Amino acid sequence: MMTQAKWIYTDALRESACPIFRKTFTVEGKVKAAKVTATAYGMYNLYVNGNRVGEALFAPGFTSYPNRLMAHTYDIASYLTEGENQIDLLCANGWAVGFLGRGNTNHFFSDRISLRAEAVIDAGTTKTVLGTDESWQVFTGERVEAELYHGETVDKTREETFVGMAKLDKKDVRVVPAEGVPVREQERLAPFKLIITPKGEKVIDFGQNLAGYVEVRVKGKRGDRIVISHAEVLDSDGNFYTRNLELARSQNTYILSGEMDVFKPQFSYQGYRYIRLDEWPFDEVDLSCFTSVAVYSEMKRTGYFLCGNDKINRLYQNTIWGQRSNFVDIPTDCPQRDERLGWTGDIQVFLHTAAINYDVEKFMRKWFTDLMLEQRADGAVSSVVPGVSNRGERTSTAWGDAAIVCPWELYLAYDCKDELERCYPMMRKWIEFMHGFGEEEFLWLGGDHYGDWLASDAILCPEVREGATQTDLIASAFFAYSTSLMVRISRALGKDSSYYEELFQNIKAAFRRIFMKDGMPVLYPKYDALSTTRPVKAMTQTALVLILKFGLYEGEEERVALVKRLCDMIDENGGRMSTGFVGTPYILSVLTEQGETKRAYDLFLQEQSPSWLFSVNRGATTIWEHWDGIKEDGSFWDHCKNSFNHYAYGSVFEWVFGMSLGIQIKDDGAGYSKISVKPHPDRRLGFAEGRIETRRGTLSMKWSYQPEGIRYDLTVPMGCEAEVTLPDGRNMTLQGGGYTFMTEAN
Ligand code: BGC
Repeated sequence: MMTQAKWIYTDALRESACPIFRKTFTVEGKVKAAKVTATAYGMYNLYVNGNRVGEALFAPGFTSYPNRLMAHTYDIASYLTEGENQIDLLCANGWAVGFLGRGNTNHFFSDRISLRAEAVIDAGTTKTVLGTDESWQVFTGERVEAELYHGETVDKTREETFVGMAKLDKKDVRVVPAEGVPVREQERLAPFKLIITPKGEKVIDFGQNLAGYVEVRVKGKRGDRIVISHAEVLDSDGNFYTRNLELARSQNTYILSGEMDVFKPQFSYQGYRYIRLDEWPFDEVDLSCFTSVAVYSEMKRTGYFLCGNDKINRLYQNTIWGQRSNFVDIPTDCPQRDERLGWTGDIQVFLHTAAINYDVEKFMRKWFTDLMLEQRADGAVSSVVPGVSNRGERTSTAWGDAAIVCPWELYLAYDCKDELERCYPMMRKWIEFMHGFGEEEFLWLGGDHYGDWLASDAILCPEVREGATQTDLIASAFFAYSTSLMVRISRALGKDSSYYEELFQNIKAAFRRIFMKDGMPVLYPKYDALSTTRPVKAMTQTALVLILKFGLYEGEEERVALVKRLCDMIDENGGRMSTGFVGTPYILSVLTEQGETKRAYDLFLQEQSPSWLFSVNRGATTIWEHWDGIKEDGSFWDHCKNSFNHYAYGSVFEWVFGMSLGIQIKDDGAGYSKISVKPHPDRRLGFAEGRIETRRGTLSMKWSYQPEGIRYDLTVPMGCEAEVTLPDGRNMTLQGGGYTFMTEAN
């Protein structure tokens, strides 16, 4: 690939500027075929004869840059003419060169933009290969500067200016053909309303929080300026609020040409629902000038859900928007502040739901490559992938377990056995990392974890974000859980699973010896049990949930007592959860599995914080990072680390599809070839219906309360098999087709 292209750069422009690397050439004869292959440290957009080629944004994508850069290939034949032609690559700092990660540091991967590109033009008798080298010219144009977090400046009064010839750069990195899916412009939203805030500022509300940018179409006086800031929320006084963006400036500046102008960013995006017109050169604000454009990776929508409760329906929409906003080339934590990074724990929690909502196979495969490339030799998996080198992220339980949970979830959804096989060595190494950690062979004691991140039971809240559950218990429980998944994974791949079966038994025995007494969780008197800055408790909802979910109890009596204790703790907390990132994804499914489905619905329908509907009641249009990002009294949870667009808690739809509707993929039925259907209806929803457009066809389930009882409508894709269990105990195995059942109302 790119045999004639050399790495080039320019030192004629300042930091954050957008250089244009240009090659002009003559084509003799009629073009038969022509393509450009390109990659960069930084981001680039390709133009041929002034026309933008393709619609993909943010090329070459975010990968583990020290290990690989992706090269995309573009067909440019239709853009070329006989005679003079011009290829431009407009570049910006992007992830590799610009500000990235908390702390506003730049140059993580390269101290400057470098480009490598090659055009191959076949004009019948002549074949031309034009690789980047010192013969390429460098210009600066109307896009004056661009930074992913900070936004862009476009000056339409500026003429293109030649600044010098490109210089040869010394870069030594593996360039690979592009993987994944392109990031593109998706939904386009008109403004909802103009607000003049108490401070007198002009704010436009688009009605939906998202990741993307605002397109502005205006005609005004040459040289006039438009400056736009972005925000997710207004504060309790109704003023524009940007403090939670932290160091991300998220501001775009546009200078008018005097003709009709269309402005939008090309190398950055913002997380926002509102914009503020910091500078606006007109007397009136014509809302038709503005369009909010959602930007995210191309994925086919596959999941749909509707029920008889509008708040839950809004919650589902918020989950969908949370996914859209955070599937931007990599799975990110949030789209607004100076972070937007590939936090492994967040996707570990959310991937099951994500793979119901959208076809995410190609998107995730690309990220798995980087996950594997960045796994340390001792098996440690970082909490952020691609890693942002100088942050030295922790190797944390429940975050690193993404190495096992995520490929397994992808395999179940899409039957991609080759991917599971490809990831298998990474999974084994992660298990061995945990296995070798600390003083107890079969436990993970000590280490630096995120704990039950953001759980509301943290004792010194809000300074402590790791929750009140012992991290030693969480880490050892996840060691057991991931090992149990390895048993299932090994079997799915036709491998011997006995090593993991035995390991699981050993972990379970050790876990029970250290963390349980008389069938209940106890404190492990070391590490975080001794910490005074982060006090922990043995008895937390999350501890009980993990013991039950991961099968770490023994016998019926113990199980019953653990379930009772969990229910009591929920009652003692006013009928609410106190769980964070670790406990929340499982609490409803544990209750349902343990015959406490009514309580699961109680939590699901709870409206006091902590609960899913608390944010819905406060007008949320995406899933919040904190249960109470905006508190009852209208004040903020905190000014930092308070995102209103984190997908993690949207993982409750795993329970909705898997237990309320009751659709689950069997281990030997990857890709939905064999499913179990075990609905758990609740009258309070009236009805619930879900549809998944699987690769094998439409799978749908609806239950509804009717005067005669509960009606179930099930569609099983052709060629698939469903084992159906109804609440009245009826059990049957069905092949593809449509079915209706009735049971008595509960
Ligand atoms: C991110 C989280 C992430 C966490 C690690 C945060 O800053 O936004 O979602 O998992 O750090 O605990």
